[in-house]
Amino acid sequence: MLESKMQNQKIPLAIDCDPGIDDAWALLLAAAMPEFDVRLLSPVAGNVDYVYTSENLRRLAAWYGLPGKLGRGASQALEISRIDAGDIHGKGGMAGFDLPPTERPFEQAWSWDLLYEEACRAEAEGGLLVLAIGPLTNLALALEKYPDLAAKLRGLVLMGGSAGPGNHGPYAEFNIACDPHAAQLVFESELNLAMVSLDVTHAAALQREEMQALCAIDTPYSPLLKAIASFMPEQAVLHDALAAAYLVNPELISWEEVEIRCECEDDVHLGQTVFSFSGRRFERFTFPPLCERTSRPLHLLSRSVNREAYVGELERRLNALKK
Ligand code: BDR
Ligand code: CA
Repeated sequence: MLESKMQNQKIPLAIDCDPGIDDAWALLLAAAMPEFDVRLLSPVAGNVDYVYTSENLRRLAAWYGLPGKLGRGASQALEISRIDAGDIHGKGGMAGFDLPPTERPFEQAWSWDLLYEEACRAEAEGGLLVLAIGPLTNLALALEKYPDLAAKLRGLVLMGGSAGPGNHGPYAEFNIACDPHAAQLVFESELNLAMVSLDVTHAAALQREEMQALCAIDTPYSPLLKAIASFMPEQAVLHDALAAAYLVNPELISWEEVEIRCECEDDVHLGQTVFSFSGRRFERFTFPPLCERTSRPLHLLSRSVNREAYVGELERRLNALKK
């Protein structure tokens, strides 16, 4: 009885992000996911400076009608200086697009304190799921401050790391490179996590015609999507959108159980994700509610993507937002 009631419940969700054009896509998908109840939105410095990522998040949340508290996040990494991807996302991070202004306020509280609060609140509902699509600084600070947090979270889906080459130098993926020490804290924790890695987001790249077809779906957000598309004229790699789409469609990604660590010592390889592969593959995976959780931390690495199903999911979700 309890189980069938839980199956119909929305899954509580917290999103940690650094908008960013592909974050803007991911957040738009989140606004079209009735399966989830967005409880917390946390900005972090990443693609561009915190002043921009936080303001972009505030404006996107208001425009998209995304519920949830707006936390105050980290403006710098735990130990290293800021790196930036403003050249890829445009000055200000939104491909030069002016998001509608809003009065929606930030909470006074820090994101890491709100995350703990929301995790405690969601325990009786199967646990809070976290989608992290930026550097992992906020989450690391939360895990350090609240040692029992990992046991309270349903799981973490993160976009980051790579089982192939990096996109910030030859070895490191950008989100992890921004704050390798935070990533390592997350990997060392008891948290169950699924990593949507760069090699797989690249395999899901959208061709120009596919992007054009998606932008032609007439939603209030088409002007933003068109601005983003014109920023990526050939192929569009919407890394964060794949992680968000997987939340509602577990058929999109297949996984392998691994152990993950992040290189934090060697300067040349700083931020590289390193894996011990188990050979145990899962064609499909979703995080079970807390009451069914296995005791040890589970690390899953994305191994392949069903591209057609992914494009279909983007289409379906945008159609649901039609004017
Ligand atoms: C990741 O880095 C950022 O530039 C994107 O928003 C994405 O989260 C891809 O490496
Ligand atoms: Ca991002």
